[in-house]
Amino acid sequence: MNIYITKQLSTSIYRISNSTLNQSIVSNLRAISTSAAMSNKNRTFELPSRYKGTKESVWTEYIQMALDYKPLNLGQGFPDYPPPKYIMDALAKASNQSDYMLHQYTRGFGHPRLVAAIAKLYSKLIGREINAKTEVITTIGAYEALFSTIMGHTEVGDEVIIIEPFYDCYEPMVRYAGGIPKFVPLRLKEVSGRLPTSADWVLDKDELESAFNEKTKSIIINTPNNPLGKVFTEAELTHIANLCKKWNALCISDEVYEWIVYKPNKHIRIATLPGMWERTITIGSAGKTFNVTGWKMGWAYCPANLMKNLQMIHQNTVYTGVTPIQEATAIGFEIEVERLDSDECFFNQLPKELESKRDYMANMLVNAGMKPTIPEGGYFMLADWTPLESKIDLSGEKDMQKDYKFTKWMTKSIGLQGIPPSAFYGESHKNLGENFVRYCFIKKDENLQKANDILLKWKSSLK
Ligand SMILES: Cc1ncc(COP(=O)(O)O)c(C=O)c1O
Repeated sequence: MNIYITKQLSTSIYRISNSTLNQSIVSNLRAISTSAAMSNKNRTFELPSRYKGTKESVWTEYIQMALDYKPLNLGQGFPDYPPPKYIMDALAKASNQSDYMLHQYTRGFGHPRLVAAIAKLYSKLIGREINAKTEVITTIGAYEALFSTIMGHTEVGDEVIIIEPFYDCYEPMVRYAGGIPKFVPLRLKEVSGRLPTSADWVLDKDELESAFNEKTKSIIINTPNNPLGKVFTEAELTHIANLCKKWNALCISDEVYEWIVYKPNKHIRIATLPGMWERTITIGSAGKTFNVTGWKMGWAYCPANLMKNLQMIHQNTVYTGVTPIQEATAIGFEIEVERLDSDECFFNQLPKELESKRDYMANMLVNAGMKPTIPEGGYFMLADWTPLESKIDLSGEKDMQKDYKFTKWMTKSIGLQGIPPSAFYGESHKNLGENFVRYCFIKKDENLQKANDILLKWKSSLK
């Protein structure tokens, strides 16, 4: 019952009690009025209906589980070792200068030194002049860049195509904007005689094509992909690009792992394909670029007419980012842009450093009896854990999806934490992720060895 009805009831009670003194009617109306007021009160404390249906995210649940059970955590995607020294020095310098303005609000759409550095870097990478003032925005992590993009470019009822498995915040963001997510999964091809790689996870061309229609507003892609590590090829991106052009759709390209690509694979920016600059918003993250996830420093670049819509959302939610963090990121980019083609460049060192960790993890998982998919990029690995299914008792876990049961069992019983990949699928496709677990390998070698020891010890305890 709404407030208007509640008020009407109160007025009626007053009138009746003053004219007829019919006590029974009065007390009945009072009861109705009280219950109406109560239901209004309950509404006061409820999540607005447009957000209902949003579940606790996998991160909230699994971070709490890590705190409770203290497993070796290969769940969350961050390094468990320090970032490169020059980037820590950049932050120290940015925070310890006599220039007091570095501790005050900076330009809302991006700290001038940083947007200049981002524009310079990506102008070089995508082969067109990017305007630092109108075509770049800096955000609180790539997360906020995604939020501003999705909110700023989704009309109520618009369809947004999301490729599965996907970074889990895409779906609620689309729904909050009033959009309708349309899921299209990458499917694992049959492979025999070798381990699968992330290149074996492919889109069915027809399935993708049939997801597009006149209601399609945009498609969200993520290359290299989290959690799979798939690096989309030029042919795959061209197919997506052609569909975007055919249906006049936008492309939201989450490229936060752009520098973490293992040879001979190559990161291709979809914005560089013919006719795509004008319809692509590309998103990046300093967290992934410089190994500083705690800085929550992101950005987006796109043509000025598309950027205006992101600016509108950003201006009225966050308004401005953190000045010293932006200054430090600018210093980092200025250093790297001068040595992009050299081995010294951190962006080139990072995948080399991670490749041996990737290979170590793949062996470790094979030895434990799982079947990993070898990633072409990023720092996550999916592994099929079902060869172990008959050896473990998951009946103590009550979740719907069996990857949740497996990862919870593993955290609690053998002290190793991974993430359940069904969290990266829409409701109707969760079964596609259930046979897998996601582990992160941007971890100290000694911790990867500890994970190996844990798995071997567990395996040898099996009858
Ligand atoms: C694919 C993807 N996009 C976006 C983000 C969010 O990045 P940030 O930490 O910069 O907000 C992440 C973080 O893990 C990610 O994996």
